[in-house]
Amino acid sequence: MKQLTTKEMQGLFHVYMEKLAYMRDPKGLYEPIEYVLAIGGKRIRPLLLLLAYNLYKEDVEAVFSQAAALETYHNFTLLHDDLMDKADKRRGKPTVHKRWNENTAILSGDAMIILAYQFLMKDCPTQYVKPVMEVFSQTALEVCEGQQWDMEFEHRNDVSVDEYIEMIRLKTSVLLAGSLKIGAILGGASEEDARKLYDFGIQIGLAFQLQDDYLDVYGDPKVFGKNIGGDILCNKKTFMLITAFEQADAGTRTELMHWITAGDYMPEQKIAAVTAIYNKEKIGELCQKKIEDYYGQGMRLLEQVQVPQENKRHLLDFVVGLMHRNL
Ligand code: IPE
Ligand code: IPE
Ligand code: MG
Ligand code: MG
Ligand code: MG
Repeated sequence: MKQLTTKEMQGLFHVYMEKLAYMRDPKGLYEPIEYVLAIGGKRIRPLLLLLAYNLYKEDVEAVFSQAAALETYHNFTLLHDDLMDKADKRRGKPTVHKRWNENTAILSGDAMIILAYQFLMKDCPTQYVKPVMEVFSQTALEVCEGQQWDMEFEHRNDVSVDEYIEMIRLKTSVLLAGSLKIGAILGGASEEDARKLYDFGIQIGLAFQLQDDYLDVYGDPKVFGKNIGGDILCNKKTFMLITAFEQADAGTRTELMHWITAGDYMPEQKIAAVTAIYNKEKIGELCQKKIEDYYGQGMRLLEQVQVPQENKRHLLDFVVGLMHRNL
């Protein structure tokens, strides 16, 4: 099997994304789309689709449009997510609702979902249209469910680790898993393999979101591209916050509760105080351990996919790269 290196694949896909022709009037609708898609990001979801496809078929360029659909959909979620999370920065640049305004983030985001469907349909072999649409629509709906749980959890103080895991499975994992499954379907994989790849995606997706939450506290803002401490300010019920509550002694718990319920505070003070509690309780280490566990479980599922081991090496390397990410 002839396979492109991941670098080559990224290069070709980058050129494809740059040439996507959707720009027309009114510019106010499409320019923010161009803005966010041009900044790029890691493009993990399209790459997972392409790498999964490449386990079975060589001509990855045949499914670039479907890969672009996943990336466009992902970027839509970011426009709305940044509004919901009051985030001012993404990929080192002002978010769309800051650069333009909130209505722009809403409507350009809406347009991106429609574009995603168009890209998904484009040149999709007839026999795959229905299964691909089914996976995509189900996935997109589940992402909304995850986002709703995420918002509701901000106002609850009794969220369990299990509930958190289910929330991140929905808001993040299913899109990585769905990307892999769509790639597998388009590649003609067996149902069993497509399911295994999906399950693999769920596990690495959980690890991926745990890392995102970790980096939101411990990342380098210049590398991570987002403001640090955003989750702490929103009272996001992350694994770290939930675990800190569980582990802390009564005094520390009271202090944590004080910050969560505080109405009037300096943002930097709250971030510093909560981070200090995480440090004291060694929550970062616990989080890292959990990340490793989920990546490990993912790798074991990938081993069970019924293609020659050598076909999996690029996908494997890509995931190893993700394990060590700092952006
Ligand atoms: C950000 O996704 C949203 C999460 C699910 C954590 P990425 O970390 O893939 O963002 P980009 O696309 O690379 O900027
Ligand atoms: C990502 O959650 C989930 C989606 C965007 C659907 P976050 O809110 O943690 O993502 P970032 O940190 O803003 O990228
Ligand atoms: Mg966010
Ligand atoms: Mg969010
Ligand atoms: Mg985050």
